[in-house]
Amino acid sequence: MSQAITTDLTIDNSQPLQGQLYQQLAQRIIDQRFQPGSRMPSSRQLAADLDISRNTVLAVYDQLKAEGFLQTQSGRGVYVHRDIISVIRPLQKSRNTAQQQTSLPKPKINSPRIDPVRTSDLDNNLPFTPGLPDLAEFPLRQWNRVVHHQENRRILMGYNGVQGYFPLREAIAEYLRSSRGVRCHAEQVIVTNGAQQALALIADIFLQADDSVLIENPGYRGSRYALGRYGNELTPVPLKNHVLDFSSLTTSAPAKLLYCTPTHQYPMGGILDLSQRLTLLNWAISNNTWVVEDDYDSEFHFYNKPIAAMQGLLENPPVLYLGSFSKTMMPSLRIGYLVVPEYLVDDFVAMKRITSGETPLFVQAALAEFIHDGQFARHLRRMRQLYREKWERFQSLVVTTLQGVLTPVAESAGMHLVLQGEVDDLALCRWLRSQGFGSAPLSAHFLEDPEHQQPPESGLVLGFSSATFPQMRQCVELIRKWLDER
Ligand SMILES: Cc1ncc(COP(=O)(O)O)c(C=O)c1O
Repeated sequence: MSQAITTDLTIDNSQPLQGQLYQQLAQRIIDQRFQPGSRMPSSRQLAADLDISRNTVLAVYDQLKAEGFLQTQSGRGVYVHRDIISVIRPLQKSRNTAQQQTSLPKPKINSPRIDPVRTSDLDNNLPFTPGLPDLAEFPLRQWNRVVHHQENRRILMGYNGVQGYFPLREAIAEYLRSSRGVRCHAEQVIVTNGAQQALALIADIFLQADDSVLIENPGYRGSRYALGRYGNELTPVPLKNHVLDFSSLTTSAPAKLLYCTPTHQYPMGGILDLSQRLTLLNWAISNNTWVVEDDYDSEFHFYNKPIAAMQGLLENPPVLYLGSFSKTMMPSLRIGYLVVPEYLVDDFVAMKRITSGETPLFVQAALAEFIHDGQFARHLRRMRQLYREKWERFQSLVVTTLQGVLTPVAESAGMHLVLQGEVDDLALCRWLRSQGFGSAPLSAHFLEDPEHQQPPESGLVLGFSSATFPQMRQCVELIRKWLDER
């Protein structure tokens, strides 16, 4: 009589016992750690070894017999089925990854290498991470109150609408009309899962592989990834005085879209004035190009009211307007918005339905209440004041400590500061990360641009909004130390 298999099974109480035992036995048979024809321990023995009931073992053995993994030899016990090879060969084949994958269809495009500095998702919220608000100052109590209020509404437990929760669309439209001069009503607003989804939807709706997109250089990387997602050409438009250089637009090839951040160029911070905005709109009209206006942080202009959005400057302009609550509220809400001409709304909603479906309803409803109650406006006023103080303090620290090596770009106010200078910015950012500070290398915001012979500039993009005053001092001193050691 052959020796029974000795098992190395471990069962715990985290999941149903029967399921665990089944999984482990089946896996060992498939892996041929339990050889065909070998004898299984008796049900009594296995139950005693694992300290579980014999009935559990019997039920699992029965299931494995029914599936052809085990067989009973009358009077002798339970065995791994002699013919199991014919059952497990196809399973093993499909797990034979290297070979199998060569013949499986390939992904259509290569995913871009998103962030050259980040090492893990745990790094996402380090102080100085660009775009990260001061979450410690978020009015949690007021927010929790509206969340709790909305949570109890059964009406929000079902489906609602892909375009977005109507009271939120109304609140967004009202906010954009009054504070940004956007010409819109709730029917034109599409709530998106962050501004990133708005950009991806624009690409889905307008672009094919051979279409060209004009894009600020340097510019927001999220826009590059979204608008280049079909492998289509991204034509860099250089900046002049930190805003889009119009002279290079006249020479550029036709493009379907032009992406820009007119109210606060990302990352350099320049602001397109009114006449430049009108020039750009006229250019777009005569060149049949959509302007993608990313109004991502216009709330944080410290000294003057921001210039009205391009979208509102003309009747029916060729503008797709987008914004986000990531900076004004918090990134984890994943709520952004698009404002598009009425005749495009159905296309956008249909595409959103295909790619993501609805935006979580409770969050939309809580946000709508937060805005309607006046909490949002109050929060923005506080944050504007706080970020202004942080910006002033950080800028003066940088000037006194890093003088001559890294120079702050004054316009980059909002929530981040760009420091320009000849440094190995990737190495510096990696090192800062190892010291607990997030930042982005300025050079990573540049696309290659042989036509305008514009080499990437180096420097740091530092999101001061998320840093405390002591962290500001600490970070600037660390940068000084790093520079001194080179
Ligand atoms: C230029 C720009 N646009 C949009 C966004 C917002 O993106 P999302 O709403 O997907 O968080 C950011 C955030 O960093 C940004 O910097």
